[in-house]
Amino acid sequence: MSARPQIGIIVGSTRPVRVGRTVADEIATLVEAAGADADMLDLREIGLPLLDEAMTPATGVRTNPHSIAWAERIVALDGVVFVTPDYNAGYPAALKNAIDYLKGEWVGKPAVVVSYGWAGGRSAAAQLHAVLDHIGLVRTGDGVRMPFEGADFDESQRLLDGQAFVGRSIDELRESVTGLVAAAAKELVAA
Ligand SMILES: Cc1cc2nc3c(=O)[nH]c(=O)nc-3n(C[C@H](O)[C@H](O)[C@H](O)COP(=O)(O)O)c2cc1C
Repeated sequence: MSARPQIGIIVGSTRPVRVGRTVADEIATLVEAAGADADMLDLREIGLPLLDEAMTPATGVRTNPHSIAWAERIVALDGVVFVTPDYNAGYPAALKNAIDYLKGEWVGKPAVVVSYGWAGGRSAAAQLHAVLDHIGLVRTGDGVRMPFEGADFDESQRLLDGQAFVGRSIDELRESVTGLVAAAAKELVAA
């Protein structure tokens, strides 16, 4: 029996009350349904400090335990879903920091971006696409943009019904995840 592809789901939002983890949990279900294992990489839980390595990431030299642990988690993946909100027409600083910790570990890795926001997180996705392409991840599609509607939130800015929000984009999410898992499975066979 062949091994199942390992798909990392990076939660780019670190706020105490956030939409990101809800979206990521639903994506994990889709990843498992597509025949892969989901590895939740929640940047709030991982808690990387601002990049604190002396050598640049491209050297591959990592000295701090948190850097080494982060690198090991990414190396173990066959594909990555980046889940990002739109913060002031960009993606969160914590996500940029987590990306910048590594270089070679990302190169050639199949990836998709799932973004959300009032315009579906279009600006964040565009920025992130440029960065992933620069590093050399291999995007397996254009990803998914998930637009909010006014009725999605209560007066405390809590998402009222996460499943309903994700449900509006479920077909695009399933298609995107299926494409990513297929590409990851190919990489696994080739390795
Ligand atoms: C710092 C910050 C900046 C934001 N800027 C934007 C923005 O430019 N466009 C947008 O659609 N939403 C913006 N929002 C609203 C977010 O889309 C919304 O709060 C969303 O829930 C954030 O994702 P999260 O809950 O996973 O952190 C911003 C929110 C924060 C916290």
